[in-house]
Amino acid sequence: MTNTTKQVKSKQRVTDHGEVFTNEREVKAMLDLVKLESERIDSRFLEPACGTGNFLAEVLQRKFNTVSQKYGKSKIEWERYSVIAVSSIYGVDILEDNARECRVRLLNLFKEEYTKRFKQQDEDLLKSVEYLLQRNILWGDALDFKNPETRVSIVFSEWSAVNGTYVQRRDYRFKFLVEQSHQFSLFNDEGDHASIDEPVKADYSLVKYNQLHCSYE
Ligand SMILES: C[S@@+](CC[C@H](N)C(=O)[O-])C[C@H]1O[C@@H](n2cnc3c(N)ncnc32)[C@H](O)[C@@H]1O
Repeated sequence: MTNTTKQVKSKQRVTDHGEVFTNEREVKAMLDLVKLESERIDSRFLEPACGTGNFLAEVLQRKFNTVSQKYGKSKIEWERYSVIAVSSIYGVDILEDNARECRVRLLNLFKEEYTKRFKQQDEDLLKSVEYLLQRNILWGDALDFKNPETRVSIVFSEWSAVNGTYVQRRDYRFKFLVEQSHQFSLFNDEGDHASIDEPVKADYSLVKYNQLHCSYE
């Protein structure tokens, strides 16, 4: 069994953190309940106890399938829409190694899809996607909304595509997002954020989708 198919890492972790990963069949069945959303390129998903990403990886795979079906013939379109797909996936886990594993897994998924389709890769795009995952998959406690070690509040970034080529970033406190939301999910997700009107920081400049890694502090 590979790491991603094992449901338990150790008895101690099950006792301490209830860490039992969901198996693939259940993940797929549950996501089929929201099939259209799980396949839509820009639908936002937040998993507050994401483990190593069993749900997030399946959502991302579905989004990539949509990107490839719709935009597989054009490299530049495929790249733009894949960035939107990655930017809409969010996760938090209280165990640092899980958050790290989840990030690496999603990055590898992106790399696999990218190399499968195109021989020449844009190194900047890869770094940009890696940066997005660093910002979106966080080590934190979903009950008190803080990093368990530093006690710093968790802040998520919302990424919105502008004119196809640019990305607008706005930062929100995780606590605020949860309190504003009826469900435990990011934004109100009709494509706007009507109920979320108090970002921590919203004055970021527009950045090209493959330059995210070198454009912020
Ligand atoms: C039952 S596992 C599920 C993991 C993943 N969602 C899945 O279905 O495979 C629960 C996960 O929640 C994490 N966890 C437990 N308490 C948490 C908390 N307060 N905040 C964030 N994550 C937490 C654990 O580290 C573990 O990875």
